[in-house]
Amino acid sequence: MSNAASSTEAANEPLQAGSDSFAIPRHVAIIMDGNGRWAAARGLPRVEGHRRGVEALRKTVRAAADLGISYVTIFSFSSENWTRPASEIKDLLGLLRRFVRNDLADLHKSNVRVRIIGERDDLDRDIRLMLEEAEDLTRNNDGLTLVVAFNYGARQEIARAARRLAYEVAAGRLAADAVTPELLTRQLDASDVPDPDVIIRTSGEQRLSNFLLWQAAYSELVFVPINWPDFDRSALEAAIAEYHRRERRFGGLIAQTGS
Ligand code: FPP
Repeated sequence: MSNAASSTEAANEPLQAGSDSFAIPRHVAIIMDGNGRWAAARGLPRVEGHRRGVEALRKTVRAAADLGISYVTIFSFSSENWTRPASEIKDLLGLLRRFVRNDLADLHKSNVRVRIIGERDDLDRDIRLMLEEAEDLTRNNDGLTLVVAFNYGARQEIARAARRLAYEVAAGRLAADAVTPELLTRQLDASDVPDPDVIIRTSGEQRLSNFLLWQAAYSELVFVPINWPDFDRSALEAAIAEYHRRERRFGGLIAQTGS
């Protein structure tokens, strides 16, 4: 459905999974930005913004599952986040630990499958094991897939994929001419996950910041002016309504009526 008038009408009503008038995007990716600004605006320490960010994440995953979204990817910690002060890194890793400890059982009960993307090799062992535990426990779930981008950078992911192909070429198992976009896609961290239909970024910043650069080729980008801790079901619905006002062409032409 790409009719602007009816999508505006639909934007004012709660979305319903499977509703005829409102096709739900299959994959929503989210850059959860603005935790620090949310806290600063209230005279609170930055960690409080991250704590509230985890609550917003819980609400959003629940709402996404209710709406029938199949995949949600969240940018939880970027390759570049290691340059933050040590105390903030400690806080973020502590929140991740707590999130896995407190929420993993609930996610599992809700039939959520957790996937992790990003570079794992240089992570501390305890974090690596925790991420593996989340994936292993939920591996056979067939509800919403929650893709957690941790220690993730898109350029690094593309370089990893290119390196794997380069090894194959060097070993004589692959002809250099056989390298295609499809083949490279298959080497990405979660190659079975479809490209995001829509990427949402909160806080008003309008850039991708090294998130899913390859997969974003045809994604709609929706920038919302609120900070991540204020994001909730209605903000998700509004972002999806905005996605519906866009016309996705995938490089083709708009369907024309008449001549
Ligand atoms: C951006 O806010 C957010 C992050 C760097 C990390 C997002 C993390 C969470 C929501 C909590 C931890 C995640 C999990 C899965 C437990 P910012 O600090 O860049 O905000 P600012 O730009 O306003 O300073």
